[in-house]
Amino acid sequence: MEWKALNLVYLFVSFFIILNCSDLVGAHDQKMKFVLEKSDKIEADRDHHDQISSLKTYIVHVKKPQTSGVLSVSDQDLKTWYQTFLPSTTPTIATTRSSHYPRLVHAYKNVASGFAARLTADEVKAMEKKDGFVSAREEKIYSLHTTHTPKFLGLFQGLGLWNDSRLGEGVIVGLLDTGIWPDHPSFSDEGLPPPPAKWRGKCDFTGTLCNNKLIGARDFVTSTKSTGTKSPSGQPPFDLEGHGTHTSSTAAGNFVSGANAFGMANGTAAGIAPRAHLAMYRQENEEYLQYLCP
Ligand SMILES: *[C@@H]1O[C@H](CO)[C@@H](O)[C@H](O)[C@H]1NC(C)=O
Repeated sequence: MEWKALNLVYLFVSFFIILNCSDLVGAHDQKMKFVLEKSDKIEADRDHHDQISSLKTYIVHVKKPQTSGVLSVSDQDLKTWYQTFLPSTTPTIATTRSSHYPRLVHAYKNVASGFAARLTADEVKAMEKKDGFVSAREEKIYSLHTTHTPKFLGLFQGLGLWNDSRLGEGVIVGLLDTGIWPDHPSFSDEGLPPPPAKWRGKCDFTGTLCNNKLIGARDFVTSTKSTGTKSPSGQPPFDLEGHGTHTSSTAAGNFVSGANAFGMANGTAAGIAPRAHLAMYRQENEEYLQYLCP
């Protein structure tokens, strides 16, 4: 029984990392190193990050290149044509890492004539004047909302791993994140037993905000800011950003039926260990977390 519960936790942890830090998987090692390096390095990296962030990704449509009788254009010709729309100078980022951020992100060649590129707003204005330019639109990032994850992972109520692990019952999932919205329906304690007898944690939410689902809640931000020490402030760790609420419910959210995003992905939302307990430790520096998992 114990090992099966552990299996479930491992499965959840792996999936959880993929879900919440998917860009870490593809991110270059500089970002990973960022986590390991010392704090003076963090400042330098943050400056670098600010400079990089003045570049936005645009989807640019341009006319097809002039082909003078040739029927198909080679990929290289296409790329060369697209390059004529891009600034010839690299951005003024005084670091060797700028090579990790090439201007041309993708050259489209099948359905559309155009490309995706990293540009500043001024560079886009300059590009608009060029012959052959059609349109440029800043990319928009949509977040993925789904209720289908457990099914996708092969987890079904009353069967197999979910049944054998009793949906993570008896497991306590601790999170270091931006805090939590305790009244979110995913943190209802319906069907949950009280925390295991070994539990010694504390809940700094008042009233009934903590329950058999959310059994621990502490804030380490306020005290760190005022005293510089990492000790709990005694304040309730409300989630001002939403990230911690998202990660907590992905990990151990209870079943919520009728969940959907504007009618899409309608179904029963659940974490991967819906009967596990949760303990949230709100950490200093939401910016840092954003940098790690944008
Ligand atoms: C579900 O788990 C219980 C034990 O918790 C077991 O008795 C039962 O046979 C399992 N059902 C299936 C279909 O695996």
